[in-house]
Amino acid sequence: MTERKIAVVGAGTMGRGIAQVAAQAGFQVVLYDGVPGAAQKGLEVIQKSLQKLVDKGELEKGVAESAGKNVFVADVLDEVAGCFFIVEAITEQREQKRDLFQKLDQLCGASAVLASNTSSIPITELASVTRHPENVIGMHFMNPVPLMPGVEIIKGLKTSEETYRKTIKLAKQFSKQPVYSSDKAGFVINRILMPLINEAIHVVEEGTSTVEDVDNGAKYCLHHPLGPLALSDVIGNDTTHHILSVIEGELGERFKPASLLTWMVGAGLLGNKTGAGFYLWVDNKPQQVNGQLLKYLKQ
Ligand SMILES: NC(=O)c1ccc[n+]([C@@H]2O[C@H](COP(=O)([O-])OP(=O)(O)OC[C@H]3O[C@@H](n4cnc5c(N)ncnc54)[C@H](O)[C@@H]3O)[C@@H](O)[C@H]2O)c1
Repeated sequence: MTERKIAVVGAGTMGRGIAQVAAQAGFQVVLYDGVPGAAQKGLEVIQKSLQKLVDKGELEKGVAESAGKNVFVADVLDEVAGCFFIVEAITEQREQKRDLFQKLDQLCGASAVLASNTSSIPITELASVTRHPENVIGMHFMNPVPLMPGVEIIKGLKTSEETYRKTIKLAKQFSKQPVYSSDKAGFVINRILMPLINEAIHVVEEGTSTVEDVDNGAKYCLHHPLGPLALSDVIGNDTTHHILSVIEGELGERFKPASLLTWMVGAGLLGNKTGAGFYLWVDNKPQQVNGQLLKYLKQ
């Protein structure tokens, strides 16, 4: 099995970014998504993102061109067979991920690494549905993947040293700094990030402050590059909700999603990906606070 061919399953916010960094690092990337047309759309977003890096002088034109040619859209999941490393980046839902890991286990070679980009679901649980739990590992990239330099690596109970070594090597080939976490709910990054976002939402919901002031407070008083509400819009408010719910299941009430967040997800206000969340978004930039949200808060 050649160590040049990687698969990314799920071509949403994260999958596209992971496919892009893998392609930039010179790997051939098979990109698959369960929704017809989504992987093709993902490839188009990757091509735009590569062009943007070239325009900003952050990537050579030749590297961008060959990276664009390294991504292959797969029409069926079976095309991941033959890849030495598979990164799963589908929706943060337990049953869907368990089901996918079972399928990947049937399709992939006995030595292929199955890495999950899950934000909160235990790696040991995903590994338990496969015949080779020693090959399963957490590789939790940060959003936006092409720009964020860190990646969290999580070993499950049975993850082998060989799998860990291959994953650290790949993270470095992607020019990412690996950060280790053990397989506990939310790992490290979301265990500390999610309470911040959830509390920011409570503050707005209770009327203690406004969306802008909460985000400006984080930016100008805490020196965060982005406020927690804008960040949740970037993550996807549905994804924030899924992550909080999974951690709540393990660690209890203090991670219960704020009811405003639950309302937003129900209303389809998912953030950047739908164009409206806490803010209205155009070209990946927040324009103004979402009037629909303000109306709801005044009711
Ligand atoms: N958004 C973030 O900031 C962020 C950061 C780190 C990790 N993550 C994690 O990455 C994963 C993906 O998150 P996202 O934000 O990219 O979500 P997303 O909703 O943007 O994309 C998920 C994609 O997976 C596809 N999908 C769903 N079920 C599938 C299946 N069974 N087979 C193939 N494709 C399927 C969907 O069609 C969609 O295109 C989640 O586990 C999430 O927790 C997200």
